[in-house]
Amino acid sequence: MSWTPNSWRNFPIKQQPIYEDQELLKKVESEMATYPPLIFAGEARNLKDELAKVSRGEAFLLQGGDCAESFANFKASTIKNLFKLMLQMNMVLMYSSGKPVVKVGRVAGQFAKPRSSDFEEIDGVKLPSYRGDIINDIDFTSEARTPDPMRMLKAYNQSAATMNLLRAFARGGMADLEKVHQWNLDFIQDHALGKKYDELSTKIDDAMRFMSACGLEVKSLPQLHQTVLYTSHEALLLNYEEALTKVDSITGEWYDCSAHMLWIGDRTRELDEAHVEFLRGIHNPIGCKVGPSMKEDELIKLIDVLNPNNEEGRLNLIVRMGASKISDHFPKLLQRVKKEGRSIVWSCDPMHGNVEKTNNGFKTRDFDNILSEVKQFFTIHENEGTVAGGIHLEMTGEDVTECTGSQSSPITAEGLSNRYHTQCDPRLNANQALELAFTISDSLRRG
Ligand code: PEP
Ligand code: CO
Repeated sequence: MSWTPNSWRNFPIKQQPIYEDQELLKKVESEMATYPPLIFAGEARNLKDELAKVSRGEAFLLQGGDCAESFANFKASTIKNLFKLMLQMNMVLMYSSGKPVVKVGRVAGQFAKPRSSDFEEIDGVKLPSYRGDIINDIDFTSEARTPDPMRMLKAYNQSAATMNLLRAFARGGMADLEKVHQWNLDFIQDHALGKKYDELSTKIDDAMRFMSACGLEVKSLPQLHQTVLYTSHEALLLNYEEALTKVDSITGEWYDCSAHMLWIGDRTRELDEAHVEFLRGIHNPIGCKVGPSMKEDELIKLIDVLNPNNEEGRLNLIVRMGASKISDHFPKLLQRVKKEGRSIVWSCDPMHGNVEKTNNGFKTRDFDNILSEVKQFFTIHENEGTVAGGIHLEMTGEDVTECTGSQSSPITAEGLSNRYHTQCDPRLNANQALELAFTISDSLRRG
């Protein structure tokens, strides 16, 4: 079956905005198609090689960032704090596992959101749901909720600037292992967790000094002074993705140059629909969410379409069942995929199956459930002798109060209103994310 960047248009599609001004939409699409790519195809291939290592158990995948990026919260400090948090978690996971950590941000393009309902009703007023800043605005007015194609250009520009800063941090000295103490975020520093992180940093300082003493030119080893942070987002708004899909001049293959890695959400992973059609044709590493409704046969068919040549590092299945469902639903899927000999990067998204609503009306997730799902994910893999490749988190480097629980930042349902800033789903704050990294590092050490 032939594939082109726009062949998805011949398939049924879910979760899309209805643009009133089709002419403007076309103008925006063709303008965006002339814009420079945000990534280079060679980088996407590097990520695929690194993910191949993850699938073999030689590296660990850490993927994380906002549920939804926003235009209003576009600040250098937010990007910097996410970057520092990723570095801290990277250190914790790397030190305990003795394996490299592949860092992938949900950033620089994570704007479009699938919604459980097309409409939202407040006090008898019914308006289209908010679908992410790339589509419409979160304010509850008819004007704000009208999808506007111009927002794609703004999202592109914000993504380009975000990417630029992330690349500068990664290459320009922020990721220097000699600065490992400075990655501690201000509000973590004085907590027990901050101290635990400081102890780890001191061990790394010692190791660096030891290497110098052995005569290694520590200063001249780029691995110790730079890092790579890849970008990813859900490929939901296919008008945007199509416009940024280009032929790589080196290989002649199609790459979606909006991010290094793209994934399909749990609501849009139907076999004969547009999102699967689009993702199957791009050569980036891709992901697909796997929720509790996934059946074994269906999963194998999906793998056949998304990774027909069984290439290592091509396909990341992101399991998001919920703490109370994973033990019932995941083992049989895993056993079947193992039996069929498919190469998969398995990761655990412990966020999306654990959403609950508090009595005071907040959408939240409890830290204990999040941790429990991750632990079960590890145990299930241990039992099957397969590789638990990584974690996929909604998290922020900011000190928000969106998820309840954890020891480091014990947030109660009543405390959620203090700093509940998310644009969409509740995120782990920096303390909670770091605590999670420390806790799973014990499993990794065992592994
Ligand atoms: C998400 O990752 O933000 C998301 C919507 O996930 P899922 O498709 O698994 O519900
Ligand atoms: Co989400």
